[in-house]
Amino acid sequence: MEAQLIDHPLILHKLTLMRKKDTPPALFRGLLKEISVLMGYEVTRDLELKNIDIETPVSKTTGSKLSGRKMCIFSILRAGEGLAQGLLDLIPTAKVGHVGLYRDPNDLHAVEYYFKAPPHLNERFNLVVDPMLATANSAITALDRIKRAGAKNITFLCLLAAPEGIKALNDAHPDVKIYTAAIDEKLNEKSYIVPGLGDAGDRIFGTI
Ligand code: PRP
Ligand code: URA
Repeated sequence: MEAQLIDHPLILHKLTLMRKKDTPPALFRGLLKEISVLMGYEVTRDLELKNIDIETPVSKTTGSKLSGRKMCIFSILRAGEGLAQGLLDLIPTAKVGHVGLYRDPNDLHAVEYYFKAPPHLNERFNLVVDPMLATANSAITALDRIKRAGAKNITFLCLLAAPEGIKALNDAHPDVKIYTAAIDEKLNEKSYIVPGLGDAGDRIFGTI
């Protein structure tokens, strides 16, 4: 099973608070935002730099600047917004794309209702974010769509993954690296992650 774990103690502490069923939406959102910044630090580790000449108050020196086109953060609506906002604070110059999807409650396939992306996706690092990777139907559909729009260099970031979702996503998109803070036990009969944290979108937006 291929997924990169970002299991820093601060992330696991915050994730445990998020899992608790009594954690209210405002706290849940705040914790997710904090975690997104911590995870963002790790998933952007390989961004390319170029040298630039600058002048400090003391002397001339050579510094570093991110090179190439601005990266694109793709938020899978709705719950992806909970991760995207913190990442955007970390990388304010990033472009943002949106893929609107929901799981059909009957057969769990992903239904697309919105897509908007910046141009030149083929020249960008594209970071696709959704807190939950369960069956992976949503992630696979989103990645299919984003690739059809031209993206080539793609990474998927989630908070929680089920082993079934990681396998399905690896099978469908072997070129996409997956980062997660935790790999949970399994999916239940309704394809919710166990132990998980429930419905991420509902918990972020208080629509339970
Ligand atoms: C949730 C979650 C993922 C999807 C994961 O979204 O945010 O997008 O389920 O499940 P999967 O891996 O089985 O596809 P949901 O469909 O509840 O929509 P929402 O974000 O609008 O609440
Ligand atoms: N989507 C969620 O929000 N939670 C799950 O456990 C599975 C899918």
